[in-house]
Amino acid sequence: MNIRLARVEDLMGMQSTNLQNLPENYMMKFWIYHAMTWPQISFVAEDHKGRIVGYVLAKMFDQEEGEPIHGHVNSISVLRSYRRLGLAKKLMLLSQEAMANIYKASFCSLHVRKSNKAAIALYRDTLGFEVAKVEDKYYGDGEDALSMRLSLKDS
Ligand code: ACO
Repeated sequence: MNIRLARVEDLMGMQSTNLQNLPENYMMKFWIYHAMTWPQISFVAEDHKGRIVGYVLAKMFDQEEGEPIHGHVNSISVLRSYRRLGLAKKLMLLSQEAMANIYKASFCSLHVRKSNKAAIALYRDTLGFEVAKVEDKYYGDGEDALSMRLSLKDS
């Protein structure tokens, strides 16, 4: 298994992985926009044949509305047969490190479905994220989101 920075030629594989794993899907222009605008903070995991089996897609927010510069994880997923191997943890750590080192981000944020036990365990227990607030009916189907944050100040 190889984990590396995402490249433009990976975007089809990332989108395909996303479609298999999550109900939140995005048009190709969204993936391209992220890869072109913030090329240092999104990563992929590939198998020995170079097939994408996991990704993290991230963006940056400039200093605005009283909030300091911070990174945001839009989406992360790992194909079912490659889970519990530590891939998501590694993808997240690489993205967080790049946000802090390259963009001097103060923190990393993300949204996760309230019912998503696996992802919440990854963020809270493994990576140290905390719940900043609950956003009512954030998702299209009416489910609430946990808005989570991790300080990158000491990283
Ligand atoms: N149940 C409980 N804890 C879990 C689970 C699970 N099913 N999966 C991961 N964890 C926690 C554990 O603490 C684990 O450490 P351990 O294996 O030593 O116990 C830790 O997270 C690290 O796990 P990884 O192996 O790095 O996680 P994995 O590569 O399996 O990917 C992920 C986790 C991304 C949540 C995967 O299950 C997945 O793709 N799910 C579907 C898509 C999804 O829900 N994505 C997140 C949506 S929110 C967003 O995108 C911002």
